[in-house]
Formats: sequence, structure tokens, C-alpha cells
Amino acid sequence: MPVSVVVGAQWGDEGKGKVTDFLAENADVVARYQGGNNAGHTVIANGVEHKLKLLPSGVIHDHVQNVLGNGLVVDPGAFLDELKGLRAKGLNPKIAVSDRAAVILPIHRALDGASEDAGAGIGTTRRGIGPAYTDKAARMGVRVGDLLDPAALRERLAALIPERLALLKARRGALPGHDLDALLRDPTPYVAEIAKEYAGYGEAMKPLVTDTVALLHEKLEANAEIVLEGAQGTFLDIDHGTYPFVTSSNTTSGGACTGTGIPPTVIDSVFGIVKAYTTRVGGGPFVTELSHEEGVGKHLTEVGHEFGTVTGRRRRTGWLDLVLLRRAVQVNGMTSIALTKLDVLGGLPEIKVCVAYDVNGTQTTRLPARTEDLAIAKPVYETFGGFDTLGKSAIVKASREGLGALPTEARRYVEAVEDALDVPIELVGIGPGREQTIDRRVHG
Ligand code: IMP
Repeated sequence: MPVSVVVGAQWGDEGKGKVTDFLAENADVVARYQGGNNAGHTVIANGVEHKLKLLPSGVIHDHVQNVLGNGLVVDPGAFLDELKGLRAKGLNPKIAVSDRAAVILPIHRALDGASEDAGAGIGTTRRGIGPAYTDKAARMGVRVGDLLDPAALRERLAALIPERLALLKARRGALPGHDLDALLRDPTPYVAEIAKEYAGYGEAMKPLVTDTVALLHEKLEANAEIVLEGAQGTFLDIDHGTYPFVTSSNTTSGGACTGTGIPPTVIDSVFGIVKAYTTRVGGGPFVTELSHEEGVGKHLTEVGHEFGTVTGRRRRTGWLDLVLLRRAVQVNGMTSIALTKLDVLGGLPEIKVCVAYDVNGTQTTRLPARTEDLAIAKPVYETFGGFDTLGKSAIVKASREGLGALPTEARRYVEAVEDALDVPIELVGIGPGREQTIDRRVHG
């Protein structure tokens, strides 16, 4: 299976990094296709934890060619910092950055922060993701290739920045270290400052910037194993997510094609990553949400260490939601599933799964489009028996011997989710390390 896609099936943080890393061991290429440094991928390799934000999860393997595809928004300063951090840990990843990827500017971060401060309520990561994609769609954005051409870069910035400064003023925002009113009267020195800073980034990134579409097609011709790594999750997708509480890109598997230039006809498998329960960071409806202050919600937060990689925010937690997951299976065309963090459910007396929503007294298994309907939807649950906390030796045994070595109730839960979604669950995560995984392709 030379080309596979890895997508999050919920609202992100499903453990895609670990699964991509698992697949990356046998891959030649790992390419990210959307988002930017809003993503948080934690990968643990040889006992060392790596928190990645923008770089693909293949960077911890020397043999992997990592690609930042054209569908990304790249903050060049953040990119160079992250790379420096990895190099300081002794890693020397192979990285190619698309010349067509969009660039995040300081004004994008300022606009993102200003919207949040004004009460937009999305709870973004404030990394400038939305405003950078807005400029891309408005056909006014700067692309990575432009950073290598200082004259063209200045011209683009001169056309873009004054308009965006005016928008920032309208949103009552601020640009750290600058007097916004003075910049509005004469933006020229600020444009020159940013042009110089970003041309500097261009110089530093030059050896890595390339036509990644051509690179990926060369790899395809050589029959390379390619993993396309999604960031965030299905319900943060700009089209399929819980709009407007979404990110600004297509996180679902269709985005893997537009965001890399790899056509749908060569994709063999779509790996959906499903956390054994649900989490969400930021605002927006969450039908199966539990209180984090007590009981099961507190257990999930604490045992699952549910705090964001990028912003450190506590994630909201809740039971597994099959209404969401069935939709995720459909829109992504999942061919297999990795169920992560099953171990976190250990120690709970019972486990619930949402099988339908009750919206104003009417039961439905369809995901409502409107935030207002989702906000009033009540979960209809099916209840399963709980299982004890998995000890170290139980985890080692199950990783070696397969699902059959798990407590009966844990196994039943996995099989019930598999039946409900009608997609094989091939990997089951029972601990944070790469080796704490049941590979059912090997053990059944
Ligand atoms: P943005 O992507 O920073 O614009 O944020 C939009 C929404 O997506 C917010 O609710 C964020 O919390 C959420 N979000 C963005 N990236 C991630 C992620 O990697 N994991 C989980 N949620 C994310």
C-alpha cells in the first residue's frame, strides 16, 4: 500500500502522531497536507518525547523524507525554531517545504488574537492560521516561494499589509512593539521591516524549499511508501466540521489530495484515528461532554493527560460519539481504524457510547448541520461494562499477544465500536509508547 492517509476522526488530538510514527517506520515519505503550527503531535521514540507543531511526524526517523505540502500555512520563524530544537536533540531530519504553501505573517497572528479578544469564541490557537488562509483564499497571500524573491515579496507585502492593518484597527487589535495608528499613517517602514525579516527566513529556508508536487510524484514513480498526515480532526474541517467552531482548512482525507498534489486515484488506504473517548479544545458544541471537575470527566482528563500540546489548555472530555464517528468514516472513506488510548478507560465502572442524538424529542443518527441544534442535542447512550486499570505487565502481554490478552470487557468495547463503524480496527493503543500498541494485522 504505497499511499496512505492518516486522519483524525474527532476534534483532533486523537494520537495521530503516534500512529503516523508507527507507520513511518516502514515509510519512505511522510507529508503533511494542511494546517500549520496549530497542530500538536506528541511522538515518543526511544523513551524521548518530541512535541511537534508544524513538522511532520516522520522527522524522528532519519530514513524518512518529510514534506510540508502546498496546503499548509507556514510560519517561517516557528518552522526554523522547531527545526533548530530537533537538531539540538541530535536529530537531522530530511525536510522539503512546498514553494506553494501559504505564509503566516505577524499581522495574521495579531488579527487572530484580536478576533479572539473581541469574543469570537472559537478558542483558536492564536497562531494566525485563519487569517493566513483568509488571505490565501482572497488571492492576496504570500507563498513560501515568494520568500526567495525579495523584490516580489516587498511588492506583495506592500499590497497586503496596509489593508490588514486597517482591519486590525477595526478589530481593536494591536501589533506588539508597534504603534498601530502611526503604521496606518505610513505603513512603508513596517512593510520594509517585514520584507527584510521574511527575506531572511527565505534565505535560511532556501535549501529546503522546492516543488513538492514534483518531488512526491518522483517518489510515486519509484513506488515509495508515502504517508499523508492530517492535522487536527474531521470535525475541525472547514466544510465537514462543527462550523463555525472549526479550523480554516480541509482536515479530512480529500484535503490530502489538494494539499499535496497527490491524486485520489493512487491512495490505497485511509487510516482513521479514533480516541477511545472524545476530547475537544476550544469552543463549540460537544454533545457527549462531561464535567472535568468530577467523576468520569476528571478521570479522562487526569489519566489521559488531556492538555493541549500547542497551548497547554485543558481539553474538554466526553464519551465516545458514534454519530460523529459514522460521519467521519463516510467523509474520509476510512479503510481501517486505529483506536487510541483504550488504557485510559481502565478503572471506570462502566463505559458509555453515544449511539444517537435526541434533538427536541426526535431521535436521529444524522449529524445536524447547525450549531444551534448540536447545542441542544442530548446523547442517547448504550452502556458497556468497565474493566480494571491495565498494569504494566498486562500492557506488555497484550502488545505481544493481541486483543485476546485484554480483559473481556475491554475486548468487547473494541469489537462493539468496530461493528458499529463497520471498519476494521487494526491498531489499538494501550499506552503512550510506540510499542504499547496491539497490531491486529499481526495478532488478530
Ligand atoms: P485554529 O486552527 O488555531 O484557527 O483554531 C480553530 C479551532 O481548532 C480551535 O477550536 C482550536 O482549539 C482547534 N485546534 C486547532 N488545532 C488543533 C489541534 O491540533 N488539536 C485540537 N484542536 C485544534
